[in-house]
Amino acid sequence: KPIVLSGCQPSGQLTIGNYMGALKQWVSMQDDYDCLYMLVDLHAITVRQDPKSLYDACLDGLALYLACGIDPDKSTLFVQSHVPEHAQLSWVLNCYAQMGELNRMTQFKDKATKNENNINVGLYAYPVLQAADILAYQADKVPVGEDQKQHLELTRDIATRFNNLYGDVFKLPDPYIPEFGARIMSLQEPERKMSKSDTNPNNFIGLLEDPKKLTKKIKRAVTDSDEQARIYFDPQEKPGVSNLLSLLSLATGTSIDALVPAYEDKMYGHLKGDVAEAVVALVEPIQARYETLRHDRAYLDEVMKHGAEKASARASKTLQKVYETIGFIARP
Ligand code: TYM
Repeated sequence: KPIVLSGCQPSGQLTIGNYMGALKQWVSMQDDYDCLYMLVDLHAITVRQDPKSLYDACLDGLALYLACGIDPDKSTLFVQSHVPEHAQLSWVLNCYAQMGELNRMTQFKDKATKNENNINVGLYAYPVLQAADILAYQADKVPVGEDQKQHLELTRDIATRFNNLYGDVFKLPDPYIPEFGARIMSLQEPERKMSKSDTNPNNFIGLLEDPKKLTKKIKRAVTDSDEQARIYFDPQEKPGVSNLLSLLSLATGTSIDALVPAYEDKMYGHLKGDVAEAVVALVEPIQARYETLRHDRAYLDEVMKHGAEKASARASKTLQKVYETIGFIARP
């Protein structure tokens, strides 16, 4: 089976954007692919984290992956820092990544603007660690949202450079970006993507949010000042309404084209009510499963232990091959 690898950062709570762009795909790929899914705590510390919150967010994230349907018997589910090969390979790849190419990463530029007082070296090297995550498992496909496309291109560039020097060491991974849902937008500022680290909580829908609160947020979502309040899909002209239509379509599994006619003479308020209802129906069963799982620390430990062992055994093979290739002496 082709190999699939992906991860989310355990910082704050995962949003409906992370679900639509990534997690939903992860779940659906489990039967046809050899899947590895992780919580990237090493990546999370590239912005300042409160230690206790990071600790909790990692357990929350793990329980949430499971609640969304990641099956640890089918997929390898692990925490990035439990598998030291990621950091080790990342160092090697740092020496094959150029500052010029990292300077062009839009996510770095974005985050550097937002965290002006902490533009650390880790934040800069973030995409190289991501390349190490992927290349360590010789992944074929990487299911991610639209915003990760550039990091995937960089991964391929680094791998190609390495292969050109030493022969075929790394497989070149392809991004796997869903046709719909790859870019869920902010509720209050629909020109920007929804982000779990947004300082305004009204901008995102957390997967674990109380259904009442979530309904309120959706009902307050920004639409537009079209006097006739027409409802149709056009992300350029009507970013707010189009985002709501996308959410409704993804949450109900009905295409946007099939949805739109029903709103011909309805108001924005109708649409928002329906979106809220559909999103609540989607998250409620996830939240119920999450509650049980999150309190079962022994089970979560078991999953982490098993996952880390499986992942490490695989990643260490690639690391050995890389060390040997570049001329390191194997530890006698
Ligand atoms: P993170 O935690 O920022 O995002 C996790 C996943 O969610 C997707 N996503 C979205 N999709 C649709 N709409 C949105 N508004 C939205 N916001 C986020 C992201 O594209 C991502 O797929 N760098 C990665 C984590 C990572 C990784 C990896 C991914 C580290 N190593 C190796 C793949 C392979 C990230 O930004 O995660």
